[in-house]
Amino acid sequence: MAARWPLIAALMCSATLAADGDCSISRLHLSEPPYENYILSDCHSSSHVIVTSPVSGGREVDPRLLIAWPSGSSGIAAYFEPENGVKGSLGLHLENSSISGNALEPVNLGSTGPNNNPRVGVTGLIHFDSPAILTLPIMGSTRTIRDYSEGGRILQPEIQNAVAVVPGDIAGGAAIYRDWLDKQTTTWLTFAQAGDVDAVKIIPGDKYTLRFGKGTYNFTATFNYPQMGQLSPQQVLNSASQDLISQNPDQTTSLSFLSYKNKILAGTWRFLTYFGRDSMISVLLMRSILSEGEGGAIEGAIAAVIERINKTDGTVCHEEVIGDYAAWLNHQKGIDSTAPSCDYKMVDTDYFLPIVMQDYFLDTDAGESRVSDFLNTKASFLQENAGTSYRQLAQATAEKIMKTSAPFASSQTVENLIHLNNGESVGEWRDSSNGLGGGRTPYDVNTALVPAGLRAIGRLARADFFEGRDDWKTLADEYAQVWEDKTLDFFKVTIPANEARDLVNQYVKQAGLAAPSSTEKITGDIVFHGLALNGDNNQPIVRVMNTDDCFRLYFLDPTNQTQLSAFLDQVANNILAPFPVGLSTEVGLFVANPAYGGSQSYADNWSNNQYHGTVVWSWQLAMMAAGLERQLDRCGRDKPDFCNDDTLRKKVISAYNHLWDLIDANRAELSGEVWSWKYDNGFQAVPFSAYSDTESDIRQLWSLTFLAVKRKTGYT
Ligand SMILES: *[C@@H]1O[C@H](CO)[C@@H](O)[C@H](O)[C@H]1NC(C)=O
Ligand SMILES: *[C@@H]1O[C@H](CO)[C@@H](O)[C@H](O)[C@H]1NC(C)=O
Ligand SMILES: *[C@@H]1O[C@H](CO)[C@@H](O)[C@H](O)[C@H]1NC(C)=O
Ligand SMILES: *[C@@H]1O[C@H](CO)[C@@H](O)[C@H](O)[C@H]1NC(C)=O
Ligand SMILES: *[C@@H]1O[C@H](CO)[C@@H](O)[C@H](O)[C@H]1NC(C)=O
Repeated sequence: MAARWPLIAALMCSATLAADGDCSISRLHLSEPPYENYILSDCHSSSHVIVTSPVSGGREVDPRLLIAWPSGSSGIAAYFEPENGVKGSLGLHLENSSISGNALEPVNLGSTGPNNNPRVGVTGLIHFDSPAILTLPIMGSTRTIRDYSEGGRILQPEIQNAVAVVPGDIAGGAAIYRDWLDKQTTTWLTFAQAGDVDAVKIIPGDKYTLRFGKGTYNFTATFNYPQMGQLSPQQVLNSASQDLISQNPDQTTSLSFLSYKNKILAGTWRFLTYFGRDSMISVLLMRSILSEGEGGAIEGAIAAVIERINKTDGTVCHEEVIGDYAAWLNHQKGIDSTAPSCDYKMVDTDYFLPIVMQDYFLDTDAGESRVSDFLNTKASFLQENAGTSYRQLAQATAEKIMKTSAPFASSQTVENLIHLNNGESVGEWRDSSNGLGGGRTPYDVNTALVPAGLRAIGRLARADFFEGRDDWKTLADEYAQVWEDKTLDFFKVTIPANEARDLVNQYVKQAGLAAPSSTEKITGDIVFHGLALNGDNNQPIVRVMNTDDCFRLYFLDPTNQTQLSAFLDQVANNILAPFPVGLSTEVGLFVANPAYGGSQSYADNWSNNQYHGTVVWSWQLAMMAAGLERQLDRCGRDKPDFCNDDTLRKKVISAYNHLWDLIDANRAELSGEVWSWKYDNGFQAVPFSAYSDTESDIRQLWSLTFLAVKRKTGYT
């Protein structure tokens, strides 16, 4: 099919296109060996190209050219092997165009195919250091690519068998294409000689392989799926924050790449789609800089969440399934449909919705003026919600929260807390298999998100957001008070100093840690709140020190003074103490410290090659900083007791400043999703992918929140 549609000269988008208003091209090159990342957008499409090439002394990698597109969360992965060398030894890189000097140019071939959508994408020059074979092309959804690339090596015959190889339009070239299950869309990857190199050779067989000589080839990757309206950096930021564009070109370009009229995307390239938790945490942390009003970033993000609610039970969608992957999942069920769907397995995501609605619709002028138009909007994204108003959908979520929080409000037992759903091993942000250590009852959800969600429902009810729910105007706060005051103790772990020293020394051996044990820093009981209750092997509490304290700091103004002071004391201690006693290292706060678990399996399950192990997540640093700020700012407002306790208040301020020193020292890492470390005379940042098949996203939405979260000075 590709061969029959002539590759007429690609229309290069020049710097400005009058017809489209502001159509400037934005580019970003981000190097994180063995990954070279190139991000490109113009007004027609946006693309992220990643070239993976082995680096000497590095981990074994699969040489790969990957193109990821936000629209339809789609992409192409082309895996290469050297014709003669050892598997994995092929070096490849992009060459700059001798004409433009750029590595990539956008392509717009105009309307094509049965759907008449523009065929768009990118073109560039790829160089092979030695003769190369393209052994495996995967074309369609980024999910399909991840199922293969993230250790699973899963390939779907229905998808792979539809990949076809044909000679190129230009002699010496070749094209690979695949028609999607929607019978409308096609993805193409074409290669042509660029200069004096061997012609691309199609190697027949049941596998679709191409042979390239040593040298440089032109590649063009295109697809004709409907494109989404991207928000330019100017459009994604509010008018007061436009200066950020010149001050932080990388982060604002990245934010724009992830921001579209109808949704914001969690990260690139792996999570180039809607995620509820990521969207709402990002809006909350960046609300002061994002564009407001109809068509702005905040409303687009909140609308995306509401559109995807399960209206029957009010559950907020965790991850959407769209594009070719949606069609494929439908096919598995015998349904010939492209209808999108949602994953509803998370138990934390619901609570963010009333919080983010309160934050925008009650606390900003722009939001306040938009309440009725917004709430009366009729949903259209999911077939099952079509015609239902945003008000009804948001109310369904509030109903669910009120209903499920009622039992604990009347009787404070572990059983009445919120647990992961039956049959699911994950349910909140630590959603890897070892993230919660098998725990069923997560700390962040129960001690922070439930009460904060209830407080928000109370305020929204008093502002008449809900129909026929006058009772919530007081009831939600009554519930909230119980959840706020009575949950923390269930998670508390107190370890006497002597025992703590033994555990840390033992951990240093178990983990083979080259860093000092720092046990001289243990001067009293070690106190923290465990990650979850009901862990593996009948453990009542998963004894991992962690950064999830940031949820309570950021989302609540607790009023039990004894409890608040004690909580802030342990937060500050754990931030200030060096790992493995506390959470602090030169590369940031580790989201988990398993040193007090007391067994080899704790050391193994939360190591530096685990997604939620002894690693640093940027957004946790942002929320911790914003959370400490919220509590310290109360000293100028409702003055909780800790404000008058000089020793404690100063300790909290030093924890805040220490955290900011770590944030400032790691600016180079901050916009990424997660990073790991090696120890060599101190902790040094290492890309997470150096230790794991899971590549971290080079740019993650909620890691861009440092555009808005800044160090506050003047605390005394
Ligand atoms: C392409 O150009 C950039 C910026 O000028 C330069 O840093 C890079 O090394 C060039 N790439 C190659 C392969 O020459
Ligand atoms: C690759 O070839 C296509 C088709 O001839 C052309 O439009 C495009 O500009 C070329 N790309 C580069 C980077 O030279
Ligand atoms: C929506 O919730 C209802 C009630 O819990 C459930 O039966 C249904 O399967 C859910 N829908 C989806 C698509 O998960
Ligand atoms: C560590 O992971 C293994 C395998 O999932 C599990 O059996 C074990 O109980 C875990 N240990 C802890 C302390 O969570
Ligand atoms: C405050 O919290 C502490 C510690 O959890 C508890 O002992 C105390 O009874 C609480 N005070 C009130 C007034 O609820």
